[in-house]
Amino acid sequence: MRMRKKGNLESRLVSCSDLITVADTTEKNMRRAAAIKEYLDMRAAFGNAHKVYLEIGCGKGAFAVGMAKLFPERNFLAVEKISNVLIAAAEKAKEENLKNLHFLNCAAEVLPKYVKDGEIAGIYLNFSNPLPKEGYKKQRLTHPRFLNMYRALLSPDGVVEQKTDDKDFYLFSLESYKEASYTVLDRREDLAADPLDVDVETEHEARFKAAGKKIFYIKAKP
Ligand SMILES: C[S@@+](CC[C@H](N)C(=O)[O-])C[C@H]1O[C@@H](n2cnc3c(N)ncnc32)[C@H](O)[C@@H]1O
Repeated sequence: MRMRKKGNLESRLVSCSDLITVADTTEKNMRRAAAIKEYLDMRAAFGNAHKVYLEIGCGKGAFAVGMAKLFPERNFLAVEKISNVLIAAAEKAKEENLKNLHFLNCAAEVLPKYVKDGEIAGIYLNFSNPLPKEGYKKQRLTHPRFLNMYRALLSPDGVVEQKTDDKDFYLFSLESYKEASYTVLDRREDLAADPLDVDVETEHEARFKAAGKKIFYIKAKP
């Protein structure tokens, strides 16, 4: 049974292979892996030189697909470490025939292997795992070690935008931005009451909203 599932995943990945770059997993040490550069050729991936926006932890892709449809003049690179999840996002993009959305199947930790410094116009962190246990603090995608990596990847005008339903993670992130010398440009504690001018709902967001949870938002600039 497991073999069949895996085989099925592989054939689905093959049918979307023009949309997905799969990380080389031979080097298990993330730091060493990131040091061996295999930069994505953004021009070849998107067929133009438009600005590239990154979503880290795209899940099943509702946000990335929605944004790519809303902003055809922007390119979106959606990163997800779990291929089983990423395939659902890539299939959506294929169905919509989106040319401005590409997927990178890797962990955020190895992004500098694929993305050059200054190449990214903006980063979206949507409902990143809050990882509440103290021992997992360094894995949180808004830990200063990640914020310092994003600083290098972002162009001079680039910003990070984050949505979460988790108040503790929101407060932790505010502290992290401060610690990593980011400027918080905007923060909202209930997007339903105080919505953004332009926004796309993610899969997790739809679920949290249906459960009556508040959605927190931060926009910060290195
Ligand atoms: C809670 S889900 C949110 C998915 C989607 N953004 C949404 O709002 O519906 C978090 C996603 O981030 C991915 N993820 C977590 N840590 C990651 C990392 N270090 N690198 C890449 N993806 C990661 C998980 O696999 C998962 O699909």
